Amino acid sequence: MNLQSLGRIAAAIVVASISTIAQAQEKGVQVSSHDLKAKTEYCKTCHGIDAQGFRGSYPMPRLAGQQPEYIENQLKAFVEHRRNNPVMFNVAHVLTPAMLAALTTEFKNLNPKPLGGAPTANVAEGKKIYEEGVPSANVPPCASCHGADAKGDGQFPRLAGQLNDYVTRKLTNWDKERGQDKANPDSSTIMQPIAHELTQAQIKSVAAYVSQLE
Ligand code: HEC
Ligand code: HEC
Repeated sequence: MNLQSLGRIAAAIVVASISTIAQAQEKGVQVSSHDLKAKTEYCKTCHGIDAQGFRGSYPMPRLAGQQPEYIENQLKAFVEHRRNNPVMFNVAHVLTPAMLAALTTEFKNLNPKPLGGAPTANVAEGKKIYEEGVPSANVPPCASCHGADAKGDGQFPRLAGQLNDYVTRKLTNWDKERGQDKANPDSSTIMQPIAHELTQAQIKSVAAYVSQLE
């Protein structure tokens, strides 16, 4: 991807995120601490008691410390079927803008230790990919967007502490799960060529590396 198209996508992202925040503020509705607690507990039944992620019949992603804009963006993508997941469609489509804003703040402030459980053998190779990319395959350094510490920024998600098996699944299935409304392209297009170029071994290494970062 050249810099110009990256710039265009970045500009579109900024506009989209400003409009969601504006919508939440317009409503001006406060969420009671009781309602927020109940909803947060509900999310944690799947996403782990401290929102650090959970391994059930498949990996449930960590939400703790996640960027608010990224969470908002993904919940919207589930509702609009740009991101395919029937469970999260049901969860997301009932959230009011005020509840959404309250939830994203709540998760941003959680900081549990990574769940762990990844094989450690290829962590060093994963670190190299994370920091330097794979120049021969045109893969830019992950750090250039997700941050040197993998904490993310705005629309760029935090990867630190994310479950390695979740990361592996997402990168492997990118084309089938993200950007599913071709008439309404979104920020998932930024990751598409990157997910595509990585080999399965490289995906597993970089997933193992990020999963153990605090
Ligand atoms: C019944 C289980 C369940 C509940 C309850 C649930 N989730 Fe999820 N959530 C999932 C699964 C499974 C995924 C992974 C989807 C995938 O693999 O793409 C997910 C993914 C997400 C993602 C995308 C994360 C990422 O890293 O891209 C967000 C954001 C999210 N959930 C937020 C919430 C919030 C907020 C709540 C509570 C209001 C909630 N979830 C409740 C099962 C659940
Ligand atoms: C040019 C910027 C850019 C680079 C470089 C980049 N990413 Fe991303 N990445 C993004 C954006 C933007 C998203 C959010 C996509 C969306 O909104 O659907 C994302 C999402 C992801 C996700 C999904 C996270 C989740 O919680 O579901 C993973 C995993 C990921 N990137 C891994 C990587 C890895 C590994 C590398 C390096 C090999 C990398 N990224 C390089 C921009 C980038």
